[in-house]
Amino acid sequence: MQKGSNLTWHQSAVTKEDRHLLNQHKSCVLWFTGLSGSGKSTLANAVNLNLHQLGIRSYVLDGDNIRHGLNSDLSFGKEDRKENIRRIGEVAKLFVDSGQIVLSAFISPYREDRELVRSMFEPGEFMEIFVNCPLDVCEDRDPKGLYEKARKGQIPDFTGISSPYETPDRPEIIIQTNTMTIDESAHKILSILKEQKIL
Ligand code: PPS
Repeated sequence: MQKGSNLTWHQSAVTKEDRHLLNQHKSCVLWFTGLSGSGKSTLANAVNLNLHQLGIRSYVLDGDNIRHGLNSDLSFGKEDRKENIRRIGEVAKLFVDSGQIVLSAFISPYREDRELVRSMFEPGEFMEIFVNCPLDVCEDRDPKGLYEKARKGQIPDFTGISSPYETPDRPEIIIQTNTMTIDESAHKILSILKEQKIL
């Protein structure tokens, strides 16, 4: 028997569009992707704070945090990273349906995994933000000492060292964190949200 064949989808009496009207803004997912140490979490948190100060309900889903709970059963092998990103995509979809702006900060190194998440959303709801920073700069920053360990062979499958990072082909936004400040970068993202009539 096919999985889910005895399940029925229940329509909500309150729709996403009803929530948009109530909130006076649209919901979307801001999908930050980039190397470890590129600044994904810092930037997602800065944008989140700006949105909060504007009175907008938003929430950050962060790789390290989610891997402590929901995805604590997953490794950093290719198949587990795929499952990590698929689950986050589903969680992000629930947030978007609830009318919120969700900011996800995951390395999400594989193009096909990011494209799978994109395909879960309606046009305009998924904004891929490439947090671009050269590997040598990320490695110099090494905020958690992980690159040093990875170079010593103490962390298997470390992104950029012993596991690939596939750069986005068509990101909606590119942020160059080695040349822009966090404030400038957050401001750029907020401006684009206004231009796109999300805010
Ligand atoms: S992924 O690739 O999207 O599934 O990774 P993600 O869920 O974002 O988790 C990345 C954080 O996990 C820590 N960490 C590693 N990163 C990359 N490769 C390996 N092998 C690894 N092991 C642990 C690291 O703190 C990452 O956080 P960030 O914020 O990216 O530095």
